[in-house]
Amino acid sequence: MTVQDKELVPGLAGIPAAESSISYIDGQAGILEYRGHRIETLAEKSNFEETCWLLLYGSLPTRAELDGFRKQLSGYRALSPVTVDVLGRLPKHGHPMAALQAGFALLGMESPDIDVHDRAQREDACLRLIAAAPTLVAAYARSRAGKAFVAPDPQLDTAANFLHMLNGEKPDELSAHVLDVCLLLHADHTMNASTFAARVVASTEADPYSVCAAASGALKGPLHGGANERVLQQLEVIGSAGAVPAWLDKVTAEKGKIMGFGHRVYKTKDPRAKKLQVLVREVREKLGSTPVYDTALALEDAVVAKLGGKGIHPNVDFFSGIVYEKLGIPTDFFTPIFAIARVSGWLAHWCEQMEDNKLFRPAQIFTGSHDAVYVEIDKRG
Ligand code: COA
Repeated sequence: MTVQDKELVPGLAGIPAAESSISYIDGQAGILEYRGHRIETLAEKSNFEETCWLLLYGSLPTRAELDGFRKQLSGYRALSPVTVDVLGRLPKHGHPMAALQAGFALLGMESPDIDVHDRAQREDACLRLIAAAPTLVAAYARSRAGKAFVAPDPQLDTAANFLHMLNGEKPDELSAHVLDVCLLLHADHTMNASTFAARVVASTEADPYSVCAAASGALKGPLHGGANERVLQQLEVIGSAGAVPAWLDKVTAEKGKIMGFGHRVYKTKDPRAKKLQVLVREVREKLGSTPVYDTALALEDAVVAKLGGKGIHPNVDFFSGIVYEKLGIPTDFFTPIFAIARVSGWLAHWCEQMEDNKLFRPAQIFTGSHDAVYVEIDKRG
């Protein structure tokens, strides 16, 4: 059988692209595990930095290991003056995900060349990227807002540091905790589009900075991580809970997509969405009401009633935007926050790929023509 006789699987849906022990999804039961740990347990008992360790090394760290890991992260959070300067000169009207891609490239240009087959060198690069990603995003946010760069605080962890560098002041405990859980929930998610992109680039033995830049490009799309900012825009367009039925009828009649709903794997409510919904409630109780929240609840009920039978339920992006809005984060920075978290997953996959690498080189089913005649340019009709 030649490639031409094979059946195309659009989007490679359901086709295994790698063996992986990093995360696991049961789409029917709504289960997500990192290294065998249920996401709900980690969200309850762990934190983002411990989860990064878990993803990278495969098991939970001892206290001494975690302390050492945190110290190393803290040492790698700062950016060079050149990087801060270049980020400050980027166009202010561009998307922050593009700035993050540029930031990864800058970081790579300033970091030592590594042997991607050397485990210790890989680990060092993972730490550099996980530590610096939030600083890159915050640096661009500050410069875009015409504000001075805020250096990382060695006393703060990833989530608190990000809010500190973004807003120029130490965050309250609840905001830092909520963002920490959000990062944890977004850290990995099996062979999604950006992780696949990461593994494809990794398979060429490119450096991890290129891996993260490429994966960020995939994450930016509205069918992937870019959905979170569109969810908020959608809720604002709907305007109120009462307006949901008419809006939904119109969108479904036009065969439009409802942002924040549906998933290639989950055919029930995304477990991350469940936890995020709890966080939204906590934030609402402690920091005041969220106008879009009532609209979101009404939209969830209406969409599930109408499309739940087709397996369309809220996904992770549905509630994350509502949380970030409440934390005062600008809408177009929602996807970069997703990226800050997912860097840990991409890099865990990069390391796994390098342990047993084979260059990705899928086939195609050719649908073009042969023996085309070259007509001189002046004779073309
Ligand atoms: N709103 C309305 N209909 C949806 C839908 C949504 N969000 N998601 C899927 N559907 C419908 C499709 O219209 C299609 O209907 P049809 O069979 O009548 O043509 C059917 O469900 C299958 O959709 P398809 O896009 O082929 O499924 P998929 O597995 O490729 O979709 C997504 C996965 C994520 C791309 C899709 O659900 C989507 O576009 N969601 C909105 C964007 C989003 O929230 N992305 C974040 C994902 S975490």
